[in-house]
Amino acid sequence: SDTLVPNGAGSGFVVVANRLPVDLERLPDGTTRWKRSPGGLVTALEPVLRSNKGAWVGWAGVPDVEVEPIIEDGLELYPVPLTSQEVEDYYEGFSNGTLWPLYHDVIVRPVYDRAWWAAYVEVNRRFAEETAKVAAEGATVWVQDYQLQLVPKMLRMLRPDLTIGFFLHIPFPPVELFMQMPWRTEIVEGLLGADLIGFHLPGGAQNFLYLARRLAGQPTSRGTIGVRSKLGVVQVGFRTVRVGAFPISIDSAELDESSRRRSVRERAAQIRAELGNPKNIMLGVDRLDYTKGIDIRLNALQELLEEGRIDPSETVMVQLATPSRERVQSYIKMRGDIERQVGRINGEFARVGYPVVHYLHRPIPRDELIAFFIAADAMLVTPLRDGMNLVAKEYVACHSDLNGALVLSEFTGAAAELRQSYLCNPHDLDSVKDAIIGALDDDRDTKRRRMRSLRRQVLTHDVERWARAFLDALSHGSVAGSALMSD
Ligand code: ADP
Ligand code: G6P
Repeated sequence: SDTLVPNGAGSGFVVVANRLPVDLERLPDGTTRWKRSPGGLVTALEPVLRSNKGAWVGWAGVPDVEVEPIIEDGLELYPVPLTSQEVEDYYEGFSNGTLWPLYHDVIVRPVYDRAWWAAYVEVNRRFAEETAKVAAEGATVWVQDYQLQLVPKMLRMLRPDLTIGFFLHIPFPPVELFMQMPWRTEIVEGLLGADLIGFHLPGGAQNFLYLARRLAGQPTSRGTIGVRSKLGVVQVGFRTVRVGAFPISIDSAELDESSRRRSVRERAAQIRAELGNPKNIMLGVDRLDYTKGIDIRLNALQELLEEGRIDPSETVMVQLATPSRERVQSYIKMRGDIERQVGRINGEFARVGYPVVHYLHRPIPRDELIAFFIAADAMLVTPLRDGMNLVAKEYVACHSDLNGALVLSEFTGAAAELRQSYLCNPHDLDSVKDAIIGALDDDRDTKRRRMRSLRRQVLTHDVERWARAFLDALSHGSVAGSALMSD
């Protein structure tokens, strides 16, 4: 990558996200290099940005460094600096100690801290100011996710010429939970600075519409919001803000293609052999996050082993877990709990040289990850709450062989689309256990039929389609005038 010399005219298409698609990594010898950032937001947006040739404004992932803008394959990256204190208060604090648990059904208790809120406001302002500098006259700006909910309003005040979209990558919570937030009105008003606000599911969009009426006192449309259709409307003075549901996806064709490559398939066979060629391989792939229900699938496995429904001599589970938010208290505790559970299952059921659970706490290179997806007979996706869950879609995209079965929590956005998966309620351990047994033991034809149907969904609804649906709605958003309603 080269250092970028801005041409002064600015970019016509700008993505703003807390993280850049790459993280700056400091090596022990003091040098630095760029590596891929964690999480689904980057997985989804990277291919979109590469084909649209825009600019990306975000944090480089390390505190207290000023990094020059860089240009990589025509993609301009504009780093926004954060101090250690801001990382603590804005990122670990308000974003991941307040908003993340609040928006994920309060699985962990959100902390409401005034200093964290002050930092959130301050950092959102910095993102808005940086974006105002790099966006060309009349540009389209697409703001991403819960860390930047105040940016739409702040940016509109700085640059009324811009077209501003916002997309929330995590669930938007039920109204009763959102009402806990001490700064609830500020957040709703921050989002209303956008021209189009996108959620994964109609339910989230509907919740937001209600709050726009109730908290911001703006008239809104009444009709039911559809998927990529029938947008809701909020009238903010002379401006019309539209609200819709746009379920995100993956670069399905690219994964499908990669998973057919000979080298990757050979590596998958090799992984099976390294695991001792067991009859059944189960796989979990997640950021190490308490929303993902890693503990739930381990509990299910433990009970199935205890009851003799799973034979430890013919079944292994592999859990790949990317380290995440490692200084946030709830993450520290959860890591300890999960590692204890892994140890306990192996302590009881493993033989020397043959663990039942293989657990890796590190990010896995892309091709290696695809090989794991291919090798797995059952994929376990058991979150207590997840906005979408791209891992579920990635697994499906990697199975042109029609082998494999997907166990999927009803509490993921993906469950609304992947109806032919082995759906389960993660709060009901028996339901998880039965789904796992179904995924392992159903006859071959049933599993192939289910996988074929899942693939049809994932291959036709890819991330390109997601981006096009959102950006089309943003650019020529005329909505049939539904009657507005106020409280
Ligand atoms: P989230 O955005 O909450 O992390 P998603 O399932 O939507 O969850 O997206 C996670 C992304 O990170 C996927 O693209 C997945 O392949 C990738 N990923 C998750 N765990 C790992 C891992 N251990 N190694 C490499 N990539 C991972
Ligand atoms: C989820 C969030 C993203 C976030 C990612 C990784 O996908 O929706 O906004 O970037 O997790 O989390 P991190 O805190 O490491 O950025």
